[in-house]
Amino acid sequence: MSHGEPRRVAILGSGTGSNARALVEYSRGAAKSFTVELIISTRSDAGIVNVAREFNIPYVILQKNDWVLSLERGIDEAHCDILALAGFMRKLPTSTIEKLSGRVVNIHPALLPKFGGAGMYGIHVHTAVIKAGEHTTGATVHLVTDEYDEGAILGQDSIQILPGDSPESLQERVKRLEHELYPRVVDAFSREMGIRTRHA
Ligand code: GAR
Repeated sequence: MSHGEPRRVAILGSGTGSNARALVEYSRGAAKSFTVELIISTRSDAGIVNVAREFNIPYVILQKNDWVLSLERGIDEAHCDILALAGFMRKLPTSTIEKLSGRVVNIHPALLPKFGGAGMYGIHVHTAVIKAGEHTTGATVHLVTDEYDEGAILGQDSIQILPGDSPESLQERVKRLEHELYPRVVDAFSREMGIRTRHA
């Protein structure tokens, strides 16, 4: 961006970190509209922590007892504008959602509003999609609200389900889709928010 500063993003997750990696790599390319300033994990042994170390990004490991406090403090101290969930399986408390009003985004491995809600995460989603006999599936980036997977949809991409697909093969192909989709949507979202000034 030629004027102002890129939007500051914190990523929260507990998985392998492949989406976090895709966001970081994208943000370090040309014409960046956002930078990843903080990675937050619910587990010290999660792959997402290795992404933080590899790219030299500050990270926070949330402890069981005061995880909401640590999360909100981390976001405040890093002056983050956007919180991007990437493999976060808990429900965010209302206080955090309100604090970042309209600026929490999530990626979900299905075509919402189908296959969302409590218990629908990771491999469980792909198992349910195959069981339901769907012909297509995909990934959705959406705003986070108080209800699981119910916020406004910011972007979606789909793929065909092939005969013989297993939950694992579907997960692998949907993840590849996610790695393209998520950075593109966060980029557009950051631009729509407008350029950050030092006082924004
Ligand atoms: C991703 O597939 C993401 O869509 C899913 O967790 C995976 C995290 O993978 N999220 C959900 O199911 C949320 N309901 P990653 O750690 O490799 O990015």
